[in-house]
Amino acid sequence: MKKRMLRDIEVSEIGMGCMAFSHGYGQIPDESYSIEAIRNAFRHGCTFFDTAEVYSPGLSGIGHNERIVGKALKEVRPQAVIATKLFLNVGFGGSVETVLRRHLEASMQRLQTDYVDLYYLHRMGGVPVEKVAEAMGHLIDEGLIRGWGLSQVDVEVIDRAQRVTPLSAIQNIYSMVERDSEARIIPYCMEHRIGFAPFSPIASGLLSGKITPQTKFESYDDVRNWVPQLSRANIAGNQPIVDLLKQYAEMKNATPAQISLSWMLHKYPNVVPIPGSKNRERIIENLEASHVELTDSEFHSLETALNQCKVYGHRGLGGF
Ligand SMILES: NC(=O)c1ccc[n+]([C@@H]2O[C@H](COP(=O)([O-])OP(=O)(O)OC[C@H]3O[C@@H](n4cnc5c(N)ncnc54)[C@H](OP(=O)(O)O)[C@@H]3O)[C@@H](O)[C@H]2O)c1
Repeated sequence: MKKRMLRDIEVSEIGMGCMAFSHGYGQIPDESYSIEAIRNAFRHGCTFFDTAEVYSPGLSGIGHNERIVGKALKEVRPQAVIATKLFLNVGFGGSVETVLRRHLEASMQRLQTDYVDLYYLHRMGGVPVEKVAEAMGHLIDEGLIRGWGLSQVDVEVIDRAQRVTPLSAIQNIYSMVERDSEARIIPYCMEHRIGFAPFSPIASGLLSGKITPQTKFESYDDVRNWVPQLSRANIAGNQPIVDLLKQYAEMKNATPAQISLSWMLHKYPNVVPIPGSKNRERIIENLEASHVELTDSEFHSLETALNQCKVYGHRGLGGF
């Protein structure tokens, strides 16, 4: 698969969100299935794997997902780029740096590794971003992490952090129906050599065209029950966007999910989407979007048509 750079870190141009093996999209598969699905993605050229310390069933524990990712990639660790994330709560014991190190050490143990490629702060708590940036800089100097990033942040926070320790990547929500980051964040990242790793790039499945107003989501730990964009009315309202994707999918002999990924790859050179799926075949389908090339004129007509569609609802805050 083609490669892209997140500052100095080279990754496959499409990564893999591993969250659903532990949390967020209903029943989780057997661990052996999840491990094999990750290994299969690696064999298909994916080298960029996204996890977080909090990804556990029902968000009730710590580390379930990191353990799976660690087991799956153990044998190919030097060729894999592992991104994980931490939460820093205000009122914790010790300095920002002490707590950050404690979280990183625990993550490394679960991931069976002595370094993390990309370490994100999952959400800004009440901690000044400069303190986090400074501590991350020390971890980079010591070789414990190769780069660092922030998730779901605005451009002011990115700029304050960047001035202390240059960022490798920003992980914000971004898809054809969540385009706020286009105004200032992605351009800022391009200008400063920061990669942009969109989460929920298929809008939690909406852009695959497989979700209809009649779709019933799972009852256990499924964020789709809470995502406003997936209410029946909003699914129906967003149908013109799904129809547009279907039209391009037919034209390009691809799938709607693939078109939605190839659209963002064409649009920005620093974007590396991390679609999530707990299904082995759909993981490969998403990775193969790397081979679906839109020409400039196809991209421009798609973009123009998309700009004329009204977007109904946002994803909201369900899921991490
Ligand atoms: N930083 C953050 O705060 C944050 C928040 C959310 C997620 N993330 C990260 O981003 C990754 C991706 O986000 P996400 O999983 O929320 O959203 P997503 O990738 O937009 O969508 C995942 C949903 O779409 C379905 N899907 C995926 N590919 C499909 C395809 N080709 N055809 C049909 N359905 C398809 C999946 O179902 P199946 O499993 O059944 O295929 C799943 O229900 C996560 O794994 C996680 O690593 C980060």
